[in-house]
Amino acid sequence: MCDVEIIKLPYINSTNTYAKDNAQSFSKKITVIQAERQLQGRGRLGRDFLSDNSDGAWFSVAIKPEKNTISPQKVLLMPILAAGETAAAIEDIYGIKAGIKWPNDILINGKKVCGILCESRVVDNNVLLIVIGIGINVNQKAMHPDIEDIATSLFMETATQVSVDLLIQNICGNIVCSYDRMRRGNTDGIIDKWNEYSIMNNAVITYTKGQSLHSAVSKGIDRQGRLIAEQDGLTIYLDSSEISIKSTRSK
Ligand code: BTN
Repeated sequence: MCDVEIIKLPYINSTNTYAKDNAQSFSKKITVIQAERQLQGRGRLGRDFLSDNSDGAWFSVAIKPEKNTISPQKVLLMPILAAGETAAAIEDIYGIKAGIKWPNDILINGKKVCGILCESRVVDNNVLLIVIGIGINVNQKAMHPDIEDIATSLFMETATQVSVDLLIQNICGNIVCSYDRMRRGNTDGIIDKWNEYSIMNNAVITYTKGQSLHSAVSKGIDRQGRLIAEQDGLTIYLDSSEISIKSTRSK
């Protein structure tokens, strides 16, 4: 990877929080912050993310774009980009095709191996900072009892031990290339890659919006990364910041 700084920490509350708090001092356009353990890993929608063990890949890619090189609209595609590139790296290294559950959970055999939390700082329509936080269960031999029904590790699914650093390097390399292509205008490649790994095509989904529960059939994502679904004969567009998918099953 060209011109990327890597900061390795033995432990930290959250690599995303570290990136946001320290971005001003990062001298490179791209900085990767990797922690052996996170004491207060953060997930989407304000949830906790269990990452207090040294068998996982817990890292954030912090990008400080040059002025006016990326629009805030394109930043909304970062979770989609990151999920596609992470799934592609997993396939390259392990030879298995993990599935993406919208917007950016990565699953194997129905259980989650990876979660992604993207955050950004935008001032006066200028994107100052993008933070892509990725957490992957890599070499764990068992999951914490609190999450064993819903989560798994790459080792548990493949019986293959892989270096966490190697996995992170591959994912970051993919993300840097794909980000560059996106900046130069190719957003279609990002959507196509996401769709290649998606488990959402024609799946029946149950989702909550506000307090209410709905059911719909998902049809993939649109060019803005929103989930397209059919509900009661109507096409609807779901935004990841306001809804939470409860279940997904093939039709
Ligand atoms: C989710 O599944 O809801 C998203 C989880 C994102 C976890 C990663 S681990 C590295 C980075 N630091 C954090 O605190 N969160 C992200």
